Amino acid sequence: MPFDIARTRAAYPALTEGFAHFDGAGGTQTARPVIEAVSAAMTAATGNRSTAFVPGRRSLDVVAAARAAVGDLLGAEPGGVVLGPSATALTYTLARTLGAGWRPGDEVVVSRLDHDANVRPWVQAAEAAGATVRWAEFDPATGELPAGQYADLVTERTRLVAVTAGSNAIGTAPDVASIAKTAHAAGALVCVDGVHAVPHGPTDLASLGADFLVTSAYKWSGPHLAAMAADPARWASLRPAKLLPSSDAVPDRFEYGTPSFPLLAGVVAAVDHLATLDPTATGSRRDRVRAGLAAAQAHEEAVFERLLAGLAARPFVTVYGSPARRCPTVSFRVAGSTPAETAAALGAAGVCLSSGDYYAYEYFRTMGLRDSGGAVRASVYHYNTVEEVDRLLAELDRLAAAGERMAR
Ligand SMILES: Cc1ncc(COP(=O)(O)O)c(C=O)c1O
Repeated sequence: MPFDIARTRAAYPALTEGFAHFDGAGGTQTARPVIEAVSAAMTAATGNRSTAFVPGRRSLDVVAAARAAVGDLLGAEPGGVVLGPSATALTYTLARTLGAGWRPGDEVVVSRLDHDANVRPWVQAAEAAGATVRWAEFDPATGELPAGQYADLVTERTRLVAVTAGSNAIGTAPDVASIAKTAHAAGALVCVDGVHAVPHGPTDLASLGADFLVTSAYKWSGPHLAAMAADPARWASLRPAKLLPSSDAVPDRFEYGTPSFPLLAGVVAAVDHLATLDPTATGSRRDRVRAGLAAAQAHEEAVFERLLAGLAARPFVTVYGSPARRCPTVSFRVAGSTPAETAAALGAAGVCLSSGDYYAYEYFRTMGLRDSGGAVRASVYHYNTVEEVDRLLAELDRLAAAGERMAR
């Protein structure tokens, strides 16, 4: 069945404002059921977690429901889902916890393709422990992260390999399963940044080979909250720094402070929403989420192909990278216009995309693009249309024509 784009777009109230949103990589629009769930949770009587009274039990229930929802999204056990304010905060918690057990001579492997949220926490934890950091390099021409290099990078001293499942700068989807295999053969743990990849297709913790997998709900139609999934037994083997009176249970002991219960209701609603993207899907919520994201992926790929072809056909556009396996995200520059100028010109025409390094710090530094403004990024999400792509391309043409007139 073809993807019902009209039905899908109708679920996002913000789309009625008329902007063309190509910055899903920075955060998607919010689905109506999410807005309604957050509002309902804030309207109802609330209380901190307690079994003593009904509002307190609601808070207990919503935490459990959010763990179950994220578990269905990632193929993880609900008891292994740690909830938190952001992927960055969760990765720092894990890095500090694991790093406390590292010694001089231990090694960690990070990549220059990753968002800094899956780089700096590990680099800093390694520095604190006197451990060595080894870097996986991407191919500057293609933007691929060759999995073969990990055979040399990983040694018997490697404690952790951190790698992205999808580059938020140029879309590359590295062969994480192969990298994880190499890491595991040496006894190392693998932390996978799923923030960019998870919104764009079905995800499975076990098939990725991830020991830890992090995702942020605001990249998949939900609120600004995040989750990190692992085997509950893995969490049980770790002891984070924590307050004395806070719960020592797994996974609670990795969560700091009182969570936003209304936003957790939004996380549940977001996963439920993803499970409706293929209205013909049946079975468990996990089955329906996978089907929904597979349907969305096929639609995104078609829209993205048109975008890539349109950019390639314009000689005044320079596109960075051409990875074979990728998420629908691309970075580029327009001749005669800085990335910030390009983004501002498009923004003035209601086409929303961002410029800069989007915290893919090592990528843009290695490419020699960071100091001159990075690039412009367009990412496709399942509510985008080919008409919006054409609108974006037409604005690029207008910008290029204006630049030529100025040059004359
Ligand atoms: C690939 C990737 N990893 C990590 C992050 C950080 O996520 P958060 O804002 O939840 O800390 C982002 C945010 O853009 C991202 O794109």
